[in-house]
Amino acid sequence: MKCVTCRGPAVIDIRRQNANYCVDHFFEQCRRQVNRAISDWDMISPGDRVLVAVSGGKDSLAIWDLLVELGHQADGLYIGLGIGDYSDVSGQYAREFADSRGLLLRTIDLPGSYGYDIPSGSRAARRAPCSACGLSKRHLFDTAALEGGYDVLVTGHNLDDEAAVLFGNTLHWHTEYLGRQLPVLPARAGFPKKVKPLVRLTERETAAYCVLRGIDYLVDECPMAAGNRHISYKEALNDIEVRSPGAKHSFYFGFLDRAAALFTPEADADREDLTACTSCGAPTTAEVCAFCRLVDRAGGHHPSAVPVQLSRGPAAGASRRPSTNEES
Ligand code: AMP
Ligand code: FES
Ligand code: ZN
Ligand code: ZN
Repeated sequence: MKCVTCRGPAVIDIRRQNANYCVDHFFEQCRRQVNRAISDWDMISPGDRVLVAVSGGKDSLAIWDLLVELGHQADGLYIGLGIGDYSDVSGQYAREFADSRGLLLRTIDLPGSYGYDIPSGSRAARRAPCSACGLSKRHLFDTAALEGGYDVLVTGHNLDDEAAVLFGNTLHWHTEYLGRQLPVLPARAGFPKKVKPLVRLTERETAAYCVLRGIDYLVDECPMAAGNRHISYKEALNDIEVRSPGAKHSFYFGFLDRAAALFTPEADADREDLTACTSCGAPTTAEVCAFCRLVDRAGGHHPSAVPVQLSRGPAAGASRRPSTNEES
């Protein structure tokens, strides 16, 4: 197996491109795909302050690394969700990565600051764990990005994630979600700009990127994910991809090119009557936003200010400083 660029020994084959790559040209290929997503969708402008939501998994650590490699000024945001050992370990991977590169990591501890964790909070609120988890994360991503004065919030969603979500939304014709399933959502009152620069890479590629770059990441899946329908959608798409390499890519990018715009009027209409939540000020269609209702039903409470801990590792040359609390 030879590298398509230099004819040296290849370490990975990418069947949808019918190409093999050596380590260096694989890295170059990953950077090229991320750069292409950024420029095609106008995701990040030079000089933007970027906040990367990092879970400690392969995708978010890969995109943090790639953005820094590409010269962007990118800090990390980790949210401790209180999912037992899984959260403890995932936080360690995020911190170790930040420490090893001297990058700034912002941390929000959901149980410590809001008084509930995902397992017990979702039970108390009678919501599926992934739904309570997704709602909590989205709210805290938005709040942390806005409070921190960031221009853009990055998540590590990859091609497999986006194709699986599209598959589910199409199977059930959730047209209101189809109009919002874009790799970039512009900033609007109360929402930061949100982008997914990994949409041109699969999770096999982000895993290979981390392994070859020596990035340690949490391999385990979230223990609460059992029964999550996206897992079966991913498996179904993987079966199709084996028989028809490139199917995922053409499904997702075909949707973006040819169909997404058909659904945006409906999604935009949904957002016209947003007002400020009477409890936290976030945009909502109800009097009190879904996050505040979840906090109440989960038996939690609101902190007096957004509780973000800051830490920066020693690799940048500076001596390690103690964590500070932004609210003070
Ligand atoms: P998931 O919703 O678990 O598929 O994760 C999608 C993306 O959300 C990841 O690639 C990260 O960018 C972000 N993310 C997930 N979990 C966390 C977390 N605990 N803290 C910060 N970001 C997260
Ligand atoms: Fe759904 Fe963890 S709570 S994946
Ligand atoms: Zn090569
Ligand atoms: Zn609220």
